[in-house]
Amino acid sequence: AECRELKLGGIRATALTEEHGSPLYVVDEQAARTRARDVRAALEAEAARIGTGATVYYAGKAFLCVEVAQWMADEGLAIDVASGGELAVALAAGVHPARIGFHGNNKSAGEIARAVEAGVGTIIIDSELETERIARAAAAAGRRQRVRLRVNSGVHASTHDFLATSHEDQKFGQPLAEAPRLVAAILAHDSLEFVGLHCHIGSQIFATDGFRESARRLLGAYPELERLLGGPVPELNLGGGFGIAYTSAQADEAPEIASIARELADIVAETCAEVGIAVPQLAFEPGRAIIGQAGVTLYTVGTTKPVQLAGSDAAADAADLGFAERLYVSVDGGMSDNARPALYGADYQVRIANRVSEADPALVRVVGKHCESGDIVVQRDVLPGDVRPGDTLAVAVTGAYCWSLSSNYNYVPRPPVVAVSNGAARVIVRGETEDELLAKSVIPAPVAPAH
Ligand code: LLP
Repeated sequence: AECRELKLGGIRATALTEEHGSPLYVVDEQAARTRARDVRAALEAEAARIGTGATVYYAGKAFLCVEVAQWMADEGLAIDVASGGELAVALAAGVHPARIGFHGNNKSAGEIARAVEAGVGTIIIDSELETERIARAAAAAGRRQRVRLRVNSGVHASTHDFLATSHEDQKFGQPLAEAPRLVAAILAHDSLEFVGLHCHIGSQIFATDGFRESARRLLGAYPELERLLGGPVPELNLGGGFGIAYTSAQADEAPEIASIARELADIVAETCAEVGIAVPQLAFEPGRAIIGQAGVTLYTVGTTKPVQLAGSDAAADAADLGFAERLYVSVDGGMSDNARPALYGADYQVRIANRVSEADPALVRVVGKHCESGDIVVQRDVLPGDVRPGDTLAVAVTGAYCWSLSSNYNYVPRPPVVAVSNGAARVIVRGETEDELLAKSVIPAPVAPAH
C-alpha cells in the first residue's frame, strides 16, 4: 500500500526525526519569510494610504535565534527585544542597531548601558524611574538616546488574563493620564529624544476594537504632548498582539492582517483629523502573527491508554461527539517544549505524520512525559483509533512562544530547532543533552573521613 507521509518544507516528517531526533521543532523558512513580508506590506500599504510610513518590529520574544533575526532583517523588519539576551542575539545576527527597539519593565543598569552603547534605535521607557536611568546611561555614553514612553490605554483586551497588558492593574507602562508629566520629565534631559507613545494591549487578540480604541486614546493625548515638544510627536507605536488561528475552529475568527491594518489606519487618520495633528509615523510589534504558523512540533508516541469517561465531567461533552472514552496518547515531550496549554489552556490540533490510517476516529488527548496532570500538548482532538507507539505526531502552529517558553522541567533536554526550506533541513538552534544538564550540577568535593 502507498505510505503517504506528512512533508514539511518538502521533507518527510520521519526523515526529519530520524536525522534530528524527537521531539523536534521544525520551522518553515519560506512560510516565516512570506508572512513577515506580507505583514510588513499590509501595514506599510495602509500607512501610505493615510500619508505616513510604518515600521514593523518583529517581537523576538515569540521566537528568536540568530537565523530568524536574519530572516526578519532580510525581509525589512526591525527587531523588538526585551532583554539583554535577546539584544545580544539580534546584534550577533548583524541587525543594524538603529533597527532594534529595546523593551522591558525592569531593565537592569547593565542592560540599559549595553543597549545605549550598542546604539539601539529606541528604548521603551516603562516607568518613571527608568527615565532617569536611561538619561544617565546615554549621557555617560555621550549619546542622545531615542525613547518611547509605554502607556496603558486602559483598554481591556479580550484575551486570556495573563496575555492582557493594558488594563489598570498590571505591571506594564504608565497610565495614559500621566503621559504629559512623564514626557515633560523626558524632555528635561538633553541626552534623551522623545519620539512617541507606545502601547501594547495584549496578545492573541481577535477583536480589533481594542486596538482601535487604544490608538484613539493615545492620539487623544498627542496635542498636549505637541505643545510640550513645541512640534509634532514623530511616532505612534501600537505594539503587537494580532491573534492567529491555532485550530480549524478558529480559522474564521482570526482577523486578516490586511483588515487589521486597514481598520487601524482608518482610526489613526480619523483621530488625527479630529484632534488636529499630522499623522505620525506608525510602528507595530507583531511576534506570534509572523512566526506562529511557520512552526510545527514533531513528537513520537510512547504509550496510549484508553480512559472511560462514564461518570466524569467530560462524559456529556464526549458523548455529544459520539465517544465514550478518551484515548490518552503520551508523547516524548510535553510542557517543557510547549508550556502554552498548561499556562493558558491553549488549544492545538494534531495529526499522524508517518502514515495514513483509515481506522475509526478516537477522541484523544495528547499528553507529555512530565509529572503533572496539566502536562497536556493537545487537550482535545480526533485521531485514527489505531494511533500507536512509534507513530510520529505533528502539532501545528508551534512557532511562537514554544521554544521561547521552553524549560528543562524533569531534566528533559530542549529539542533542537530545524529550519526547512526547499527540501533541505538545517539546525538553527542546537538541542541539549542530558550530559549538558547534568553538568550544571556542582559536584561537591568528597568530605574527608572523620578520624
Ligand atoms: N510588544 C510587546 C511590548 C509585547 O509585550 C509583546 C508580547 C509583543 C509586542 C508581541 O506580541 P504578539 O504579537 O506576539 O502577540 N507567552 C504568551 C504571549 C506573551 C506575549 C508577551 N508580549 C503566549 O504564549 O501566548
